[in-house]
Amino acid sequence: MKLWGGRFAKKTHKAVEDFTRSIHFDQALAKYDLLGSLYHVAVLKRAKLLTPFEYKKLQKGLHSILSDLKSGNLKINNSFEDIHSYIQYLLKQKVGKPADKLQTCRSRNDQVVFATKLYCLDHIKALTEKIHALQKNLRSLANQHKDILMPGYTHLQHAMPIALSDYFHAYLNMITRDTERLGDAAKRISLTMGSGALAGTMIDSKNYSFPAKGDLLKTLTASKNALDTVSDRDFIIEILSALAILSMHLSRMSEDLILWASKEFDFIEIDDAFCTGSSLMPQKKNPDVLEMIRGSAGRMSANLLEILVVMKGLPLSYNRDMQLDKEPLFDAFRLMGSIFDVLSPLLQNLKFKKEKILSQISDETLYATDLAEFLVKNGVSFHDAHQIIGKLIRMSGEKKISLLKFSDSVLGKFHPLLNDKVVQTILNAKRSVLSKKSIKR
Ligand code: ARG
Repeated sequence: MKLWGGRFAKKTHKAVEDFTRSIHFDQALAKYDLLGSLYHVAVLKRAKLLTPFEYKKLQKGLHSILSDLKSGNLKINNSFEDIHSYIQYLLKQKVGKPADKLQTCRSRNDQVVFATKLYCLDHIKALTEKIHALQKNLRSLANQHKDILMPGYTHLQHAMPIALSDYFHAYLNMITRDTERLGDAAKRISLTMGSGALAGTMIDSKNYSFPAKGDLLKTLTASKNALDTVSDRDFIIEILSALAILSMHLSRMSEDLILWASKEFDFIEIDDAFCTGSSLMPQKKNPDVLEMIRGSAGRMSANLLEILVVMKGLPLSYNRDMQLDKEPLFDAFRLMGSIFDVLSPLLQNLKFKKEKILSQISDETLYATDLAEFLVKNGVSFHDAHQIIGKLIRMSGEKKISLLKFSDSVLGKFHPLLNDKVVQTILNAKRSVLSKKSIKR
């Protein structure tokens, strides 16, 4: 049952088997391990370490396990050490003696890196498709609500008027950078074979193209350094880092939506199908989904931190600590996938309360910067303009008088260029937003 054992005089203690076992989670690598083995038997055949007959048998056996896996008929026996040992066992059941040659010139240290890299490429591809679907929803929200203007915030205080679509484009930009980071991590994944346990093997396994179709599978390249290849988990760290950043972005977007759904803001209505209620308060409609997405950023950062701490200080090359890389990696992809599955339709079903949002842009303080810039354009220094308008806004607040109600003579005392007409012109959200030349809309 084990891939090792000859040098041991005693049976492994059950507690050790239980403690070191990983099949309950690394079964997620089954497909990738099988694809790796298909590469490997082709390499062995080229090196004449398999007869054509043995090669055919092994290839057929591996394909048959692969098709059982695809059809959901592969039963996993969780008493095996890991998925790699289990597949070896299954192959022996299927093809008999030739299966004993599968591990020729191969170590699980190399095998596990190869399978994990393929898993990563496959999952980055699937997640990128989900991200693109969400980006499409954000783009369509931006187009649908082009005409809604709103207060922009800094420190969560009214700052200057912006377009609602600016929010969606901001999140689109952030998520585009995330997909670029993921794509970049994928590009750096080089699929190699032949590192053996740490020192390389007696056969050449480079430049081998996979004998079957599939865009996942690249041509094998030569490992530049076998020691590095079996020790390397940078690709996992890069991916988990990209996913932690993505998750932080989704957390911020969720927070904006949670605020907007509150009675205090009242900018949006989240569809009933995407909210939950309270067991005690009958009136409640809570944004739990968005809260959980916001909270998931904690778990995603923890996944990154976990692998960073596991890897820190490990001597080269393989150490069993590295088996602990998989749970945070698998968890990250699973959680991310489920976030996109729920966030995409939630966004698609959001209702924006145009009147409510527009009512906020009558806040005159939003135009203070525009008033100061009017003075600047007419030769006043920015410092003086800032002071003048600051005082004007303070007076309006203290006396509770709208700037639009100030007489020309009062305005003129603040600065001779200020008058009723100027204030009327500048206190206009559309004018304010359109006057900003530095951003592309
Ligand atoms: N299950 C192990 C892992 O995921 C496979 C490698 C075991 N190698 C070893 N030398 N014990 O890391």
